Amino acid sequence: MMAEPQKLVQLTRTEDELLELERRYSSWGDTVHYLDPPKFFARAEGSYLYDGEGTPYLDLQMWYSAASFGYGNARLKDALVRQLNTLPQLASQYLHPERVELSAAIARLNASKFGMDGRVHFNVGGSQAIEDSLKIVRNATGKGLVFAFMGGYHGRTLGASAITSSYRYRRRYGHFSDRAHFVPFPYCFRCPYDKRRETCELYCVDQFAKNFETEYNSFWDAKAGESEFSAFYVEPIQGTGGYVIPPREYFPALKKILEERNILMVDDEIQMGFYRAGRFWAIENFGVAPDIVVFGKAMTNGLNPLSGVWAREDLISPEVLPPGSTHSTFASNTLGTAVALEVIRMMEEENYQRITQTKGAYFLTQLRNLQQRYPRVIGHVDGLGLALRVEICREDGHEPDRELTDKIFKEGMKGDLNVRGRMMGLVLDVGGYYKNVFTLSPCFEITEEEIDIAVELIELLIRRCAPDRC
Ligand SMILES: Cc1ncc(COP(=O)(O)O)c(C=O)c1O
Repeated sequence: MMAEPQKLVQLTRTEDELLELERRYSSWGDTVHYLDPPKFFARAEGSYLYDGEGTPYLDLQMWYSAASFGYGNARLKDALVRQLNTLPQLASQYLHPERVELSAAIARLNASKFGMDGRVHFNVGGSQAIEDSLKIVRNATGKGLVFAFMGGYHGRTLGASAITSSYRYRRRYGHFSDRAHFVPFPYCFRCPYDKRRETCELYCVDQFAKNFETEYNSFWDAKAGESEFSAFYVEPIQGTGGYVIPPREYFPALKKILEERNILMVDDEIQMGFYRAGRFWAIENFGVAPDIVVFGKAMTNGLNPLSGVWAREDLISPEVLPPGSTHSTFASNTLGTAVALEVIRMMEEENYQRITQTKGAYFLTQLRNLQQRYPRVIGHVDGLGLALRVEICREDGHEPDRELTDKIFKEGMKGDLNVRGRMMGLVLDVGGYYKNVFTLSPCFEITEEEIDIAVELIELLIRRCAPDRC
């Protein structure tokens, strides 16, 4: 006889008991355990996460930029509750006003920014929206091959993995026949061509252009006047790649080549969109109009998974992409679209361009001062809006120091830093090609005082983890 199962759910377990269950029953394939044991949090508010003992952790990554408007943002919470109380569920074949309003708002916004008509298509996560964009590109061009950047990240579904640079993300899943052709990103601090920005004259763009010089370079049929490649997937500022900010002239020069070769530009704004980099879309910093824009994360402040694709009318109109061409049950769900619409209304009422640019400039100045005080620890800092990077290097100021980066990150999560008489922790995110970059995406509501505290916390961590280099 089988034993009677115990009561399936208990809500009174200790953290140790929960960890034991997690070790036994949770897949680790859908997470990363950066800490051993992984950390529990009990509460979140504004820029802070709180552990079970009530210790605050200043969060400088805000769920990889998904919660840009602050944990528990009252206005967005109210929008969610309103929707929950009126139309909490609805199959996507029916319409609800928020969905239509949201599509129209984004389409009109892009018409004003890029001077092009287009339409909006929803899904539930960034990767799924990337899949949809790949389908839109394939459907419109009849071609499967795309360019993407080294250091780029577009997600983990199969299609998105095929255009994401890291081999580690693909190696368990067999052969990807339509893997992107990966092009070096203009990471000027570590120029892939060993050039210097002052004298390079955008050598990297010339190298890309050379692919099309002769059919024997394998990209271009001069007789047909046609490329084998349909699109170039770009992150205007690389997210997972380490918040790498290209020179302002780079994207206009790249776009010119793409236009000459009839190749679409797909702009992945999943991490940088919704003002993270000081403009609604990060690509606006570069004065370039993409053909397709993909977005997600902060659109709902992380309150409900919702993502989307905007595409030029001729690529996505119902004549080209008929009803039912691709679909997900939860796409355009009522809760997500209601919150996203409230986000757009907030953006209409408040000047987020000014907020993110002003706060970002202040934060960057403090980080530059910190770098001057610790040149044997910090090799590079940079930022655009509230997307900021701190690159941890060895004494020479250039060679990546992954071990020290990891140590600083782990010490920050102990919650035992005494700042202004208060015990605190610091939540950092590690990214970059060499896993030595703190990619900072603070809350848009962060105050100057909190920015000062953030820099003090980083300084305490540097002094604790690398005393011999201070
Ligand atoms: C630029 C970019 N594209 C795509 C994705 C994938 O989005 P998701 O994790 O929601 O599938 C991410 C996630 O970090 C991202 O940063």
